[in-house]
Amino acid sequence: MKIGICPGSFDPVTNGHLDIIKRASHVVDKVVVAVLNNPFKNPLFTIEERINILKEATKEIPNVEIDSFSGLLVDYVNMKNADVIIKGLRAVSDFEYEFQMALMNKKLNKNVETMFMMTSSEYSYLSSSIVKETFKLNGCIEGLVPDHVIDAMRKKFKEVL
Ligand code: PNS
Repeated sequence: MKIGICPGSFDPVTNGHLDIIKRASHVVDKVVVAVLNNPFKNPLFTIEERINILKEATKEIPNVEIDSFSGLLVDYVNMKNADVIIKGLRAVSDFEYEFQMALMNKKLNKNVETMFMMTSSEYSYLSSSIVKETFKLNGCIEGLVPDHVIDAMRKKFKEVL
């Protein structure tokens, strides 16, 4: 059984992330979406909220598990007995950072492979940050994130603003 890990902050998940998760679910037997619990970042959504949002967003994909991790990704990959890290690549600008991370992960554990999937063109400009900023400034984000994410953001921004 081949297990792929899709790691990220998912603050919140976008349709771009979901496109990669769905396509990854056709390539490996099981996809583990691993939400980074990073105490140094100041996310909009708590780790529990991000997990619940992801569970709702992926409930139609049978071979997806949602989990969280902290510490080194390569250690988590080992712990899950996973075969590969699967990441989405949007533009050339992503490449440098992703290349650096993939090589660092390889240095930390030579058995850990990283696979990149090109994003679908309609999501190539999308990121959690741009979605949050647009929403905060009353821009329309319909079609860029699932509807329940828009509801969660509406609720969250009422709390934080
Ligand atoms: O969605 P993001 O914020 O681009 O995801 C980045 C993520 C979670 C993949 C990356 O920050 C990560 O793997 N963090 C774990 C810490 C780690 O292993 N660092 C050393 C090797 S790069």
